[in-house]
Amino acid sequence: MQNHEIIKTEDGSDTLFNLSSGEHYHSIHGAVQESMHVFIDSGFLYSAPSNTNFNILEVGFGTGLNCLLTCKESISRDVKIFYDAIEPYPITKAMADKLNYTGLDGLSAFINEFTMMHSFDDGAVTIGPRFMLHKLKSTLESIELIPDNFNLVYFDAFSAEAQPELWKAEIFLKIRKSMVPGGILVTYAAKGIVRRALQQSGFTTERLPGPPGKREMLRATAV
Ligand SMILES: C[S@@+](CC[C@H](N)C(=O)[O-])C[C@H]1O[C@@H](n2cnc3c(N)ncnc32)[C@H](O)[C@@H]1O
Repeated sequence: MQNHEIIKTEDGSDTLFNLSSGEHYHSIHGAVQESMHVFIDSGFLYSAPSNTNFNILEVGFGTGLNCLLTCKESISRDVKIFYDAIEPYPITKAMADKLNYTGLDGLSAFINEFTMMHSFDDGAVTIGPRFMLHKLKSTLESIELIPDNFNLVYFDAFSAEAQPELWKAEIFLKIRKSMVPGGILVTYAAKGIVRRALQQSGFTTERLPGPPGKREMLRATAV
């Protein structure tokens, strides 16, 4: 059963509203604006991947918007991206086809890439000569992560109110162990309870200005 409604956010890009959790997939002030600010500008571009393999983990693939924007940003870089995405409850291909992302300025050239991203739920595909996507249809809690692997983590789960079990120190510790020293984790959340759980798990944390409509976000560095 389809359990989502498409909502148009204030920057004109779509997001989904999940009827069972009562949660939006992105900020209603702007889905693309939020993803660009939190994950691309504060995470991907801050990490400045260059000239090597670069491993990204996304917690909560959802609409695939972060993956699409990362794919676009990586085009001009001489770097091979290995993008691992965890998503236990994938949206249907039909729902993905209705999202307006590849109709937006700057993203229309990526229609084939976006289609490929939603053509499977569990497995791997090479999306371009330098972009490999691996999707895992599992919960974050139930999977094992390879140690010392990820350079960058997009932590984009539903909120700590909706899914408190995902924002705990033991979960962040598991993620931190899967990251290279100095690796970066970014999340839209800024609550003290999240920041302290990250610190307890061996991250140093920074509070950064959030995207429009949100005062702050967090960037954490694996020590
Ligand atoms: C805020 S939304 C994702 C937004 C997504 N990154 C995007 O750009 O559309 C949170 C996502 O986490 C997924 N999720 C729910 N429970 C999860 C779990 N236990 N482990 C990993 N992901 C989970 C949801 O299905 C949903 O797609």
